[in-house]
Amino acid sequence: MTAPILIFDSGVGGLSVVGALRTRLPGAPLAYVCDNAALPYGTKPDAWLVARIVAVCRAAVEASGARALVVACNTASTLALQALRECLSIPVIGTVPAIKPAAHASRSGVFGLLATSATVSRPYTQRLIGEFAPDCTVVRLAADPLVAQAERVLTGMPWDDAIIAASLAPLWEASRLDTVVLGCTHFPLLREALERHAPREIVWIDSGDAIARRVAQVVSPIVSEATRDAPGSDASWASAPQQSGLARTLASYGFSAPRSLALPDPVLTF
Ligand code: DGL
Repeated sequence: MTAPILIFDSGVGGLSVVGALRTRLPGAPLAYVCDNAALPYGTKPDAWLVARIVAVCRAAVEASGARALVVACNTASTLALQALRECLSIPVIGTVPAIKPAAHASRSGVFGLLATSATVSRPYTQRLIGEFAPDCTVVRLAADPLVAQAERVLTGMPWDDAIIAASLAPLWEASRLDTVVLGCTHFPLLREALERHAPREIVWIDSGDAIARRVAQVVSPIVSEATRDAPGSDASWASAPQQSGLARTLASYGFSAPRSLALPDPVLTF
């Protein structure tokens, strides 16, 4: 049995890259881990987050026997990629805001970055903007309440229009803004709601396909269809596996019910 590619996020956001991964790597076993006991990551202090992310990823890599780790979380990637690479012996592929594609896609040179408050303020993000969009106006908008909205929608509840509208409102003050980077993996899961609340046509850019391309380069050669177990047999882990609706959501992406992730003592609680 081929070792899986492990996808990690604080919650269900990492599922937004699963479709692209399955398309690029048909037949490759995947595994999923979410640290939903500590969700949301985007409002927590950096030092705490690094220790927590390293503890969760180490435990999940060991439990899954993964051959590569996809950090499908911008908040974690813009902070902890180096720490993860230092402590893991498998390739670690991160997810960072798609600033470069947005700079190419925007006709007006004015685009938005919608992400968690941690991601919008990180030096990593500032470097991406300086390197790939030096001549653009980038409207950075922290939209932490959208993380909970995506969790609701994916676990079977409706989104709240008032929260979506209030979270997006500052973007529309920039009249020439024509493109928005979805710099949090939870946000593509709200795509329908975001489109409905946009007052004009917007190009929405997420990182899903770029991540899948990068993973395919790193883990090639691609395993063949024949090595795959039955659909739905990919394993998953969660720090709060009993979360309502989680098992059903994971099943709809081809994962079996989440097992409890055993974290080292002392458990890092916030
Ligand atoms: N999905 C995560 C990201 O891409 C963050 C969600 C959270 O705040 O936990 O940044």
